[in-house]
Amino acid sequence: MLIAPSLLSCDFSRFGEEIKRVDKAGADIIHLDVMDGHFVPNLTFGAPVIKKLRSAADKPFDVHLMISQPHRYIGDFADAGADIISFHTECDSDIGETLALIEKRGVKPALAIKPGTPAQVVLPYLDRLYMVLVMTVEPGFGGQSFMPDMMDKVVFLRKEIAERGLNTLIEVDGGIAKDTIATAAKAGVDICVAGTAVFGAPDAKTAIEELRALCK
Ligand code: DX5
Ligand code: ZN
Repeated sequence: MLIAPSLLSCDFSRFGEEIKRVDKAGADIIHLDVMDGHFVPNLTFGAPVIKKLRSAADKPFDVHLMISQPHRYIGDFADAGADIISFHTECDSDIGETLALIEKRGVKPALAIKPGTPAQVVLPYLDRLYMVLVMTVEPGFGGQSFMPDMMDKVVFLRKEIAERGLNTLIEVDGGIAKDTIATAAKAGVDICVAGTAVFGAPDAKTAIEELRALCK
């Protein structure tokens, strides 16, 4: 299991140091939540901030776009140094065209689905995806409760990925903690995003190690 701390729960006044802290603590991936106050009822940060932070760690930057028109900003996030770009199937942009923009920039493309969206919507694009992000809370805020029902989607996607002989990764995001991560692991998740569970813990290294150990 790969652990991707979500910086949404970090101390934003020390953003760069917080990335370095989770990097040293053993994070596999750095998860960055971009919100536009329209697709979700919250605002965070954009590409210029990510660009300034890029040198804080060598780990892959996993940019989760919770924005209505992702196609307008793919170039900016690619220039900022994103390694993975996820956008939502529920957005207003054309999915195929937005994936093409990500592919053209050599960034790893991912599609994200909200809790109310069936996993079937990603099937037409599955062969092009580096990763599918299955939301396990309504996107917008950290600290919400994990929705175990979403594991049916993970099981479904895992089977479809295997049948097609793909290497597509499955990520879950929201409510991942010591009492929920084993459920995700059993369902076949590859990457767990964890905000509160890492940044709310007294020691990030211990928190990440405990989460990983619970998947074995
Ligand atoms: C929510 C974000 C998550 C969030 C997860 O919309 O996409 O990445 O930070 O936070 P926790 O782990 O606290 O549920
Ligand atoms: Zn996220």
